[in-house]
Amino acid sequence: MRIPVIAGNWKMNKNIVEAVSLVKELKDFVRGIKGVDIVVCPPFTSLWVVKEIINGTNILLGAQNMYWETKGAFTGETSPLMLKDVGCEYVILGHSERRQYFKETSEEVAKKTEAALSVNLIPIVCVGENLKEREGGETKAIIEQEIKALFSKIDSTLAGRIIVAYEPIWAIGTGRSSSSQDANIIIKFIRELFSSEYGSKIAERIRILYGGSVNPQNISEFMNESDIDGALVGGASLYALSFSQIVKATEIL
Ligand code: PGA
Repeated sequence: MRIPVIAGNWKMNKNIVEAVSLVKELKDFVRGIKGVDIVVCPPFTSLWVVKEIINGTNILLGAQNMYWETKGAFTGETSPLMLKDVGCEYVILGHSERRQYFKETSEEVAKKTEAALSVNLIPIVCVGENLKEREGGETKAIIEQEIKALFSKIDSTLAGRIIVAYEPIWAIGTGRSSSSQDANIIIKFIRELFSSEYGSKIAERIRILYGGSVNPQNISEFMNESDIDGALVGGASLYALSFSQIVKATEIL
């Protein structure tokens, strides 16, 4: 049984005051909810203050990126240990905005994934095709390349801890989500890739999320699919009410 995950990716939104007010409200809305891992991923500047508020609650902390080195002369970067230090348990890696605007490669994402796992951070590794690739029938080839890059870096003892988020780029922030059936096909395909590399036992443990215009209205459709284990939520995670409604729709009673 895989425990579902609902992770909120705040992206570059919310100053400290706004972050505090969002997470205080969220804490009340999701109080007592069990059976789903609730993760918030604020900007770096609010990690500490958010951690102070969610300590002892059912909300977990994640970051939106990190570097793979432990420390040193890497101006502007944040290390895996620094994320641990501030109380993160999760880290989003290889989000399409990072791949697109900051030219992160699948090899770099793999190095970051390895570094995260080595300090016991749970990586949420994002993969997904753009519209042109989808229309050109390249979706599976793109996903395969992004997923297989992980395999050379991650050994089977740690692979089961990875979370993958399948996020078709054309569905992110557009209000146009993938159909749940299409998302499930790709998510099954991702699980098969893990299965052929690490065996079915490990593949069955890996949690694979859908992301891209998830909202309180469409979350149940996704959760009703066989292989979708939760969601990475952008826009709707910026409001305590909508994010909590998504969490509630996912709760295993
Ligand atoms: P969205 O973003 O929910 O606003 O589409 C998802 C994401 O980028 O992770």
